[in-house]
Amino acid sequence: MAFSTPPEVLLRKALRCSSFLKRGVKGQHHRLLPSLNASRTYKSAVCTKLGQPLELQEQSCPSQLVSNEVLISVHGNGVNFADILMCKGLYQERPKLPFTPGFEITGKVVEMGPDVKGFQKGDRVLTFSKTNRGGATEVFVTDSKSLIPLPDNISLVNAAATIVSYGTAMLALTRKAKLKRKETVLVTAAAGATGLATTDIARNMFDCEIIAVCGGQEKCNFMKERGATHTIDYTQQNIKERVKELTGGKGVNVVMDQVGGDNFLDCIKSLAFEGRALTIGYASGKIPSIPVNLLLLKSASLIGVFWGNYSLRHPVAFFESITQVLEGVTEGKLTPYCGTTFPLEQINEAYQHILDKKNIGKVVIKMKEEDAPASV
Ligand SMILES: NC(=O)c1ccc[n+]([C@@H]2O[C@H](COP(=O)([O-])OP(=O)(O)OC[C@H]3O[C@@H](n4cnc5c(N)ncnc54)[C@H](OP(=O)(O)O)[C@@H]3O)[C@@H](O)[C@H]2O)c1
Repeated sequence: MAFSTPPEVLLRKALRCSSFLKRGVKGQHHRLLPSLNASRTYKSAVCTKLGQPLELQEQSCPSQLVSNEVLISVHGNGVNFADILMCKGLYQERPKLPFTPGFEITGKVVEMGPDVKGFQKGDRVLTFSKTNRGGATEVFVTDSKSLIPLPDNISLVNAAATIVSYGTAMLALTRKAKLKRKETVLVTAAAGATGLATTDIARNMFDCEIIAVCGGQEKCNFMKERGATHTIDYTQQNIKERVKELTGGKGVNVVMDQVGGDNFLDCIKSLAFEGRALTIGYASGKIPSIPVNLLLLKSASLIGVFWGNYSLRHPVAFFESITQVLEGVTEGKLTPYCGTTFPLEQINEAYQHILDKKNIGKVVIKMKEEDAPASV
């Protein structure tokens, strides 16, 4: 299906989705309840005990879809750091056991309830789980109002690398930091999913200069290929000194920090006059503290961003960030990138790959090839 939807229409669609969120339609994938017709089964990764490897379990497809329900054959599930934390019991949300992790889902529509309009079998769609889990599965049942049709120019795997990282980066850079064209952006964990999305948006939509901070030369080289103007290997170089050299002492307009930890102070010290620092995550495991006079001296701002929370507190802004990303993809300005895929059977290895800092770009659990038929 061509993605010919004009932006205004897409936004209206997004607003409809927001009411879906407000109404709290179940939106959960497979029922763990036994189905009336257990002839069709599929696999899901299930967390049965916190901190233990996920188990692959056989589930039954629902025998009948009702009202607006849509059954999706899942192709991709983007892995987020939050999924891993949740399975360890270290995330702010602690779902009841057992649960299936995974927020971002792409796939093809297989079956629809009697009230579904605007979709047909085989449509390529993107969706996400309202409860922040459920995506590591071969089949997902959700409300059709939560489906977003995908542009033709993105694969189902790369689309699964889009929603959280790009939505976060878009909202942080545009709504919160009010990024302007040609500004300089310092991005940490630059070769990670959010860092890469930040680089793509700031470079290719705002023509900004990017200083990409990464751990190691391989990641630095990769970031150069992805459009970074400069790179800093923090294992070898001092961030503050290097930024000073690269900016002729002016500093950077925006910091986008995914890591926290000891390098955060150097990032704050690297801000220019009226700079804005975005605190996005703490991949280092350490939440930093800073002397606030550093902000005063430069009339700078420190801004927190919790993108997922916007779905509940400000759904319009939430869906706007997604709409902006999909417009960027449709226009060919943004190219979301999946670095590595793992089959569902190796989801524990995928999680470990991220914990070992081996990922370059997003990790996606890939269930099916792009051209697989829309069936269960
Ligand atoms: N606030 C929000 O709304 C929001 C949204 C999305 C993500 N986040 C958060 O942002 C952070 C990054 O997420 P992401 O999806 O971009 O992650 P990612 O792709 O897995 O990248 C994480 C990167 O962080 C760096 N890192 C530094 N110390 C680390 C450590 N001790 N363990 C693991 N990684 C470490 C590594 O890069 P180097 O090797 O280059 O150091 C690693 O590749 C996470 O904390 C996530 O929860 C927040």
